[in-house]
Amino acid sequence: MKICVLPGDGIGPEITAEAVRVIEALDLKFELEEALLGGAAVDATGDPYPDATRKLAREADAVLLGAVGGPKWDNLPREQRPERGLLGIRKDLGLFANLRPAILYPELANASTLKPDVVSGLDILIVRELTGDIYFGQPRGIENRDGERYGFNTMHYTESEIRRIGRVAFEAARKRNKRLCSVDKMNVLETTQLWRDVMIELAPEYPDVELTHMLVDNAAMQLVRAPKQFDVMVTGNMFGDILSDEASMLTGSIGMLPSASLDANNKGLYEPSHGSAPDIAGKGVANPLATILSAAMMLRYTFNNEAAAARVETAVKKVLAQGYRTGDIYEPGTTKVGTKQMGDAVLAAL
Ligand code: IPM
Ligand code: MG
Repeated sequence: MKICVLPGDGIGPEITAEAVRVIEALDLKFELEEALLGGAAVDATGDPYPDATRKLAREADAVLLGAVGGPKWDNLPREQRPERGLLGIRKDLGLFANLRPAILYPELANASTLKPDVVSGLDILIVRELTGDIYFGQPRGIENRDGERYGFNTMHYTESEIRRIGRVAFEAARKRNKRLCSVDKMNVLETTQLWRDVMIELAPEYPDVELTHMLVDNAAMQLVRAPKQFDVMVTGNMFGDILSDEASMLTGSIGMLPSASLDANNKGLYEPSHGSAPDIAGKGVANPLATILSAAMMLRYTFNNEAAAARVETAVKKVLAQGYRTGDIYEPGTTKVGTKQMGDAVLAAL
């Protein structure tokens, strides 16, 4: 069982180090190997997804990723930007299904900017399509046309792409509260009319799941108005990018939220939902829990080890109950700790 570890940029190396310590403590005979992705890879090789990383990632059963990007690389040509490394590995490994849970831990009810009764008990799962849509559509570019600059991108989905992410979402809903909300913009965009049509066609195969539809602007509003109405949401790459950031903040801190990006065989890339946080990089204050919880998702989805996954998640709940908090979730009366101390606390709880 091989895990490729990609610490990436910014706080990435600090948070992945803690997740690696947790994985090693489980003593499950994983082979871990590190490689470069993103800005770190650009600095070393000129390529945000270098061949050596591609080889290792393809060979591994799972990939654990920190985060990529930072202001240092913002002015590079688009092909060399760290984000290209992330999009590149998602596409290369065929990781079309992105699972982003947003769970509010009772201990963190005050960390949310929303009223406690609106968010208490929140447990939603966003299923985001990850290898299609306007993110990858051709043609794209910025050109000179008729004497002015012209920017263009292409939104598209094939019905098979919609069907395979739809199935992942229906299956996920089946294991939860059996409610699936498909999010589109069918009142304006043809691509998403097809999205809705295909979801409706799939529904008879899952008679136990209640399928509803919502336009994306309304979904953005409903997420802050009454988020507990949702169980599983399924949507395309771009809408999913936006809605998953919004959903994460319902829980108080994006520093708590893991994610899994899976291919058709449950090979997966696991990363925190947050970014590289260059403003706090290297200071030892970042919250490693999202990355540790991503490792738990890895144990569950790729290695099919529910017991080990639950063990890690229980350890995280325990450190929260014990009152340990990194700066992003700190409130008076709790114990403020740094990245490494939080890792220590999880190891102790394990
Ligand atoms: C995410 C990120 C990425 C995305 C960026 C860094 C390319 O925002 O994983 O949500 O847009 O998918
Ligand atoms: Mg995003």
